Amino acid sequence: MKSYTNRRASLIQQMLTKGGGVAIIPTAPEVMRNSDADYPYRHDSYFYYLSGFTEPEAVIVLVAIQGKQPQTILFCREKNLEREIWDGYRHGPEAARTEFGFDAAHPIAALDSEMSRLLADAPALFYALGSDAKLDAQVQGWLASVRVQSRAGVTAPASAHDVRCLLNEMRLFKDAGEVGLMRRAAEISSQAHRRAMQTSRPGLREYQLEAELLHEFRRQGSQAPAYGSIVATGANACVLHYRASDAILKDGDLVLIDAGCELDSYASDITRTFPVNGIFSGPQKALYEIVLASQAAAIAETRPGQRFMDGHDAAVRVLAQGMLDTGLLDSNKVGTLDDVIAKGEYRQFYMHRTGHWLGMDVHDVGEYRAKAEAAADPEKPWRILQPGMVTTVEPGIYVRPTDGVPTEFWNIGIRIEDDALVTATGCDILSKDAPKTVAEIEAVMRQR
Ligand code: GLY
Ligand code: MN
Ligand code: MN
Repeated sequence: MKSYTNRRASLIQQMLTKGGGVAIIPTAPEVMRNSDADYPYRHDSYFYYLSGFTEPEAVIVLVAIQGKQPQTILFCREKNLEREIWDGYRHGPEAARTEFGFDAAHPIAALDSEMSRLLADAPALFYALGSDAKLDAQVQGWLASVRVQSRAGVTAPASAHDVRCLLNEMRLFKDAGEVGLMRRAAEISSQAHRRAMQTSRPGLREYQLEAELLHEFRRQGSQAPAYGSIVATGANACVLHYRASDAILKDGDLVLIDAGCELDSYASDITRTFPVNGIFSGPQKALYEIVLASQAAAIAETRPGQRFMDGHDAAVRVLAQGMLDTGLLDSNKVGTLDDVIAKGEYRQFYMHRTGHWLGMDVHDVGEYRAKAEAAADPEKPWRILQPGMVTTVEPGIYVRPTDGVPTEFWNIGIRIEDDALVTATGCDILSKDAPKTVAEIEAVMRQR
């Protein structure tokens, strides 16, 4: 409870430095899948970050007005024995207030009446406009109801801030509790990748490897995958957003698995690429070693003081050199390494970025460029890495059949992705238990 109350206190302090006001942070709505069946419920990440509360139909309101005692308020579902028989336990406002450490709690049905009162004379509104149409309409209504009181001397908020900007910056830096969860999530996912490697054999289908991943996630207490698992064999590995489907794993092909579990609201995001039959072929190994070396170069740049894009630039250099060395790119046509990088020719085989923030969301919040960095050097506006940030490091090579490209590499798709916590001196690879070198992967697969 302490970390949630501390986060709310920190947000209130930041609101006060911006002149004060009222923040409204709702959780996610329940979404119907089809008749009477909901999608699995997942609370909103901002809401959970400030509360630890997982029930739907809930809103946090923070009141931060200069000279007044700040107030933290939770609106949530009332207790309802009839509904609890069908759907399970509801805290109800009173128990939720005590357990989650709010100053006050009210039934969600009281939101309309309470908000008109709370917004009266508030200097500003802190709210994420545009993310929930129903709540947007309610907020408009509350503001209108405050404005009509102007002749009684009541003022409505004169300005609005996107509360996400403050929260994004807080969420970018993980505290010890968050790091512990992310480390555990990455461990479970690493074991799931190992399990998939040990299950792989020609004749299986992609969804059967997906089933192994899901089994390991759930067996170890993860609530859900953090994103749709990619299990892509053969040419499917060159489709970046492919999802596990029904293709048959063939002797001599690779399989690329990009899958990570979510544990207690924190994501992991790991990719491994391995041979279906347990032994890399010559061309597969040649490209694999290039991607692995490019990842090592990017990881070496993942340390305090370096910029967010330095890892990507380092990976691109190694990948581009490898493309020239293997003949994927013909130096007679594309020129030198520097030409390949300057003209972006490597993008034929490497078309995505090398990393993204990771946290409660797999593509987590947080700015990648920053005003301070841009002011210091307009050419390099990218964020400077600091301890507590977590980024993925995920270079790859994807070779679609193309005239002029050596046929031995056609349809090979390789990505290697790890989760890196920036530390005081470098980075800590949270996903280090997932076998990664050619020797490690072949050794694990020999144990099948
Ligand atoms: N799994 C999503 C990503 O790697 O960005
Ligand atoms: Mn991934
Ligand atoms: Mn990723």
